[in-house]
Amino acid sequence: MAFDLVFFGGTGDLTWRKLMPALFQAFRHGKLPPGGRILAVARDERSDGDYRNFIKERFVEVESAKRPSDEEFARFADLLHYRRMDLSQPEHYAGLKQWIDERGADTVVLYLATAPYLFPVICEQLGAAGLNGPNVRVVLEKPLGHDLASAQQINRVVRSVFSEAQAFRIDHYLGKPSVQNLMALRFGNALFEPLWRRESIANIQITLAEGLGVGTRGDFYDQTGALRDMIQNHALQLLTMIAMEPPSTNDADAIRDEKLKVLKSLRPFTPESVARDVVRGQYRAGTIAGKAVSAYLDEQKVPAGSQTETFVALRTEVQNWRWAGVPFYLRTGKRLALHHAQIVVNFREVPHPIFPGSARANKLVINLQPEDGLELHLLAAKGSGQGEMLAPVSLDLDFDKAFPSERVGAYERLLMDAIAGRLNLFVRSDEQEQAWRWVEPILDIWAADPNGPRPYAAGTWGPPASSAMVARDGCTWDEEQ
Ligand code: BG6
Repeated sequence: MAFDLVFFGGTGDLTWRKLMPALFQAFRHGKLPPGGRILAVARDERSDGDYRNFIKERFVEVESAKRPSDEEFARFADLLHYRRMDLSQPEHYAGLKQWIDERGADTVVLYLATAPYLFPVICEQLGAAGLNGPNVRVVLEKPLGHDLASAQQINRVVRSVFSEAQAFRIDHYLGKPSVQNLMALRFGNALFEPLWRRESIANIQITLAEGLGVGTRGDFYDQTGALRDMIQNHALQLLTMIAMEPPSTNDADAIRDEKLKVLKSLRPFTPESVARDVVRGQYRAGTIAGKAVSAYLDEQKVPAGSQTETFVALRTEVQNWRWAGVPFYLRTGKRLALHHAQIVVNFREVPHPIFPGSARANKLVINLQPEDGLELHLLAAKGSGQGEMLAPVSLDLDFDKAFPSERVGAYERLLMDAIAGRLNLFVRSDEQEQAWRWVEPILDIWAADPNGPRPYAAGTWGPPASSAMVARDGCTWDEEQ
């Protein structure tokens, strides 16, 4: 299947850091369909050779197992092309169309890896140039809007040019192997589904913790904050995967219909519940892995006195029969104690304990990163004698060991899905808008609140108010157990 894959923002951070390495891995794994061309477009003048050298430099930094040899890179580089484009100029789109039409690939994937304010203009120009035929797909990278109104505006323009089936909205967390395994666990096995409900589950915790700070992206991040950057998209998408009803088929719309129902069932926020159930924080100086790190306000390009949150913890509920009364705790932050992302499903305690001192409940931990895998925590007898206390044990499933040669990264998986036209792991416009609708009251209430975010020391788990929030329900965050 011959394809053309075009990156708008071809010299930008996302293409350089994530997309090109992912494409190279797909190439190395033999997953990239034959007959492909990869075209980067950006505003400066470069030759194909310049661009290939630019991308080659990227691999100097990657871990050695993922680094190509010169010969391997040369074969990959043959697929790479570069074209200068001024994104406001219709004739530049006409030139692009001609380049694409000359070869007549089966599939054309247009990946918008630019700043989002350019999405409407690029989509309009693509439509005007006729670059929206049935073999064309457009991939939209987050952030998709800044609030509900801007997301709706982007979606209106996208819909005026492309059908929903042509629009691939990326949330790279959906491409992580553990998320696909969550679907497999829930809907490919009979074991968990009967337990997957309020009668058996006490609470669910989703933690997306990063040790890194905002790095050189201080200006972007300061306009965004943790709620928009991680909760509105990644954390909510994970929540939908946990809470959705079994879809009737494994088709994109059957899955997305169920996810949308979850988003619509989330308890709406009010000023009272934002004050009680949402904690925002901002990191101060601290220590991470023995190294002193500076405060958010001292990061490059962060304006003095900024009130942008670098941490959010919140409590919500899914208001339906399956989940009524079960707290869902979501938490994310920069400069936290660890770099890890996980979902913890805490089961209820046994109704009538007969073993002394063994009240610990079962839990299922879905690790997304740095390693991906599943752990089922149980209690067992060590076999050392009568009257012994039960001891915690865990059944661990390490996917890297179970499927050593088949693991693919999130962007690799999603890029291959976009080329193949598989929409299952992409976000539909109504899901995305509903997620904005749900977070927007929090943004509005914060904007009017002079108190601003609570401080936390870098290298900790965020402001103490986050622990206090879950403690009100008699719970603790996983690392405090
Ligand atoms: C991005 C955010 O969407 O996800 C970044 O914009 C964040 O701020 C990143 O660092 C985290 O992704 P991952 O896959 O490294 O956890």
